Amino acid sequence: MDKRTFLKHVGMMSFAAPLTFIQLEEAVSGVIGRDLMDVAKDEDFWLKVRGDYDLKPDYINLENGYYCFMPRQTMDHTIEHLRAVNYEGSYYMRTVQRENKNRVANKVAEIVGCSGEEVVITRNTTESLDIIIGGIHWNAGDEAVMAEQDYGAMLNHFDFVADRFGVVNKRVSLPNHPKNDAEIVDLYASAITSKTRILMVCHMINITGQVLPIRKITDMAHARGVEVMVDGAHAFSHISFQMKDLDCDYYGTSLHKWLSAPLGAGMLYVKKDKIDKVWPLLAERDLEPNDIHRLNHIGTHPVHTDLGILDAIEYQNTIGLERKEARLKYLQHYWTSQLRDVSRVVINSPVEMSRHGGIGNVGIDGIEPADLEKRLFAEYQIFTVAINRPGVRGLRITPNIYTTTEELDSLVHAIKELSV
Ligand SMILES: Cc1ncc(COP(=O)(O)O)c(C=O)c1O
Repeated sequence: MDKRTFLKHVGMMSFAAPLTFIQLEEAVSGVIGRDLMDVAKDEDFWLKVRGDYDLKPDYINLENGYYCFMPRQTMDHTIEHLRAVNYEGSYYMRTVQRENKNRVANKVAEIVGCSGEEVVITRNTTESLDIIIGGIHWNAGDEAVMAEQDYGAMLNHFDFVADRFGVVNKRVSLPNHPKNDAEIVDLYASAITSKTRILMVCHMINITGQVLPIRKITDMAHARGVEVMVDGAHAFSHISFQMKDLDCDYYGTSLHKWLSAPLGAGMLYVKKDKIDKVWPLLAERDLEPNDIHRLNHIGTHPVHTDLGILDAIEYQNTIGLERKEARLKYLQHYWTSQLRDVSRVVINSPVEMSRHGGIGNVGIDGIEPADLEKRLFAEYQIFTVAINRPGVRGLRITPNIYTTTEELDSLVHAIKELSV
């Protein structure tokens, strides 16, 4: 064994043995081969999954959209990784750090069927998308298209490039209940001119849960010479998709959201032939122009998080992303379908399952969202978040895979009482 191989070997040895997830595997083996929607409705199965989470008993947590905390297995292993990295210190950093980071990028890439060379691990969606927004070679008068319902941090960064470079931002306002895909595509198309450089679009709108027809939007934009950057904060590991089916140029997400990876984990996808066009903000000069690592030289950071991502992927793979997606959609449908026809109640999320994931939004006419949030917590011990944005006034409801239908019954009961 030469010195380098030896050091690498020792570095790998110090980590926890691979997860076995024995109980979870046993539960999953009982549902293999069954119809996805049938499993989605199987409360006994999901109760076993719930057993993997340490849940605070004081309230019903329907605010998993901020981040989806880790199941116990992922958390325990992440703590072991923290200990192991701390034990080795610089030795870890100088021997296996980069190799492990690449291993993680390859595993993340596998989930969406792209090359690991097109993926870089970041700290979150904000960092991923800001690398692109700030890394475009902007000229005065260039235009960018986005939506009023996009995430504030990205809208802010576009406002900054407008101030700095004279970029013109065009914002469309998306309907909560589109008639069809064409309505959305046409809306974005109407904002494109010969000066448009890039279109930013949410894969799943964070405040309503609406899933947008990304492929149709990218086809339309590309036909007009416009690049597409997808904000996938809420879609990755929530709905299953392949990057090639979206055909976007850039995709950013947070792995601490629906993958339930440790906090401070994200990814940026850049289509191979676009990598050398992005100006690095956290620069690395000694790499080939088309090496994606050139784009985020973030310096020394908590690298044990990288290893926790692998555990989170293993956890998700054990359950199966398709089962998880079906359950989340079912949960959204479960509570929204009981409230859609209730007087004064407004559901700000589409009804068709193909247009939503697990997130939903509900308001009550005559009650301010912030007041509704407070009353739901104080009177019913249900934790949610108020949304007061253009066209969307209500509470964002984000269950996770540990949520029971019984908990959602409490939500339905509370909203009905408050709407009287
Ligand atoms: C649509 C969307 N984009 C970006 C972000 C930012 O995610 P993070 O804070 O993990 O960077 C969020 C966070 O909720 C979001 O909902």
